[in-house]
Amino acid sequence: MELEAVAKSYARWAPVYDHTFGAVTHAGRRRATGFANAVGGTVLEVGVGTGLALPFYAPHMQVTGIDFSEEMLAKAQEKVAERGLTHVKALRQMDARALDFPAASFDTVCAMHILSVVPEPERVMAEMARVCRPGGHVLVVNHFAAEGSGLMARIERAAAPLSDLLGWHSDFERARVLGEAGLELVEEDGLPPFGMMTYLRLRRRA
Ligand SMILES: C[S@@+](CC[C@H](N)C(=O)[O-])C[C@H]1O[C@@H](n2cnc3c(N)ncnc32)[C@H](O)[C@@H]1O
Repeated sequence: MELEAVAKSYARWAPVYDHTFGAVTHAGRRRATGFANAVGGTVLEVGVGTGLALPFYAPHMQVTGIDFSEEMLAKAQEKVAERGLTHVKALRQMDARALDFPAASFDTVCAMHILSVVPEPERVMAEMARVCRPGGHVLVVNHFAAEGSGLMARIERAAAPLSDLLGWHSDFERARVLGEAGLELVEEDGLPPFGMMTYLRLRRRA
């Protein structure tokens, strides 16, 4: 999606997101935050959205979130204030293709349900690798295009022209997040709902 379409789409999604798509996709947020909590230290959540994952980080963590949509970020800010999430150190408006952080700033970098939304996902993967410390991890949760010619693959291809309306690309290829030379894939798992989401853990090469 182009950035202008992202901004328009997520301004519409912000008021209803937590009760629709957000409500049925917690498994990936639990999985990624569970790993980050076990590592400890600093986390960057790229495309933090309405901040649905923020309450899942442990109090000892230091979490920074960025998102392009002002409306989604405002919802995240509300959660931080209402729930007193003191482990959230900053929420900033930013384009994930140009992260305003020095190299190797974070122990863990998460991107949940965002890579099929952003323009230039390869550039976002490169940026996430850059800001992750060597030996740290980039965690991706996303839906990837079904393989073959089954019903799901046909539905996804049919919905592909609706990406600006939906707010994501329904036929997003897994290969598009695996080409970053600075990252090696170390874990992959299917997640609910119905195994439609995939969890990827990638280690930042030294
Ligand atoms: C489907 S939501 C996912 C939100 C959250 N990660 C979650 O799991 O609920 C996708 C988010 O990606 C954000 N986004 C899309 N393109 C972006 C970009 N280039 N830079 C930063 N955020 C972006 C959107 O504004 C939206 O909040």
